Amino acid sequence: MLEPLAHVGRDPATGGYVRDAWSPADLELRGWFAGEARRRGLDLREDRNGNLWGWWGDPSPRRPGVVTGSHLDSVRQGGAYDGPLGVVSAFAALDLLRARGVTPAVPLGVACFTDEEGARFGVPCMGSRLLTGLLDPERALALKDDDGDTLADVMTRAGRRPHEAGRDDETLAMIGTFVELHVEQGRGLVTEGRPVGVAGAIWPHGRWRFDFRGRADHAGTTRLADRDDPMLPFARMVLAARELAARHGVVATVGKLRVSPGNANAIPGHVSAWLDARGADESAVRALVADLTAGAAADVREESWTPVVDFDAALRDRLARAAGGDTPAPILATGAGHDAGILATAGVPSAMVFVRNPTGVSHSPDEHAEQADCEAGVVALADVLEDLCR
Ligand code: GLV
Ligand code: MN
Ligand code: MN
Repeated sequence: MLEPLAHVGRDPATGGYVRDAWSPADLELRGWFAGEARRRGLDLREDRNGNLWGWWGDPSPRRPGVVTGSHLDSVRQGGAYDGPLGVVSAFAALDLLRARGVTPAVPLGVACFTDEEGARFGVPCMGSRLLTGLLDPERALALKDDDGDTLADVMTRAGRRPHEAGRDDETLAMIGTFVELHVEQGRGLVTEGRPVGVAGAIWPHGRWRFDFRGRADHAGTTRLADRDDPMLPFARMVLAARELAARHGVVATVGKLRVSPGNANAIPGHVSAWLDARGADESAVRALVADLTAGAAADVREESWTPVVDFDAALRDRLARAAGGDTPAPILATGAGHDAGILATAGVPSAMVFVRNPTGVSHSPDEHAEQADCEAGVVALADVLEDLCR
């Protein structure tokens, strides 16, 4: 089922995927979702924030549904599974339930959330944050991509109505429970020797933009003593982030950088760098960012923050039993963010199923899942849905 998606947004030079929200690749993926939903006779809806829903049954606030799904956008040069595996598995689990002759007692929905990765506009889980009201739509619509286009611009160009974006109680009221299947982004299940696991918690995490300003000048004629080079405090910040992360027992990454104007033969005038910091303990993450900010000659702005998510324990244990066969599926904490975490924060009972990733690598083309493990994931998801839909 992943096969029809294999070419969409794929960089042939690297094998990585570039699937920015609202890009031509994303629109093609949305078209694929619509086709899969229609082919199964599901009622296809797009909410005001661009999230897609395919309903088997007719949910209402009095009879909310059990929803499963994930996202189809990607980090830049990402793998084939982060996101799509959860959407494809949602359709496959629904097919399996039908093949088993199951008639769900409550509506069953398949969801695809918009812009989970935040690759284009910098804020992750945009679709679910807007839906739940955790992100101010005015701020979201004004965010700019690398070309200077705002979210409002690109939504308008895609034929959407951005002024309608924002908290959507009507759609939220349709979600009784949400279950997201995802490729594991580490080697926990490899260590456990199990194909499928269940999420226990998501670490608190955030993104911060550091702006270092200096003075652009000639690389050959400017004496060292006369330079105001913002690359130097930037470099110190990167090294400090690594040291402070080790000291505070968290992880910190600078993976995105903009150097302006970007000449090989000029001292830059401006360096913007993005810090991603995460850890099991929120105060330790906050301490790292505070220490780094205090020591850096930069303007620092928090672009997103996601508090810790402890998934509902009763639901988690029920899933671990339903997904585990004879022995409950292992429960894993993760440092990766997900729409399921946003929904959980907004009060929707939510849970996650993880599928083993033999490389443990993610946000890279080396991300992998074996066919047999994906099938085990679909069976586990179908078992979980059958249990929840009773
Ligand atoms: C999303 O995958 C994230 O954890 O950044
Ligand atoms: Mn991801
Ligand atoms: Mn994902």
